[in-house]
Amino acid sequence: MNELSAEQAALVAAARGARERAYAPYSSFRVGAAVRSESGALFVGCNVENASYGATICAERTAILTMVAAGQRSVESIAVFTDAESLAMPCGLCRQVISEFQRDALLIVANPRQHRVLPFAQIFPEPFVLDR
Ligand code: THU
Repeated sequence: MNELSAEQAALVAAARGARERAYAPYSSFRVGAAVRSESGALFVGCNVENASYGATICAERTAILTMVAAGQRSVESIAVFTDAESLAMPCGLCRQVISEFQRDALLIVANPRQHRVLPFAQIFPEPFVLDR
């Protein structure tokens, strides 16, 4: 577990803060995410569950969609924070959505005890691309 840079630590702290606002009454699995866009701005998200279950939105997608709504379209790095025993990786849907806005992003997954930094491309090397 390498030391995080100050910028990376700030991103993880933002994800950790966002996790506090997770709405997860059904799973009780709270997730926070934070995205640093290429301009250096931070955007956070948390999971927002729904009684239908299927309408639940993950923390990563909440953060990415917030970034896009603010006019930014390139993810420099993304942090995901949970309290899970083992580090939680982004789900498949979120991987596809992250890849839409940068395939060379840096991913930081963290919990209160540990973190891992890895290239996003390592966990999603071949995204679906619409080539018409
Ligand atoms: N969840 C996320 O927020 N991110 C992921 O990458 C995987 C799962 C949320 C969705 C749901 O609210 C809860 O975790 C349990 O699946």
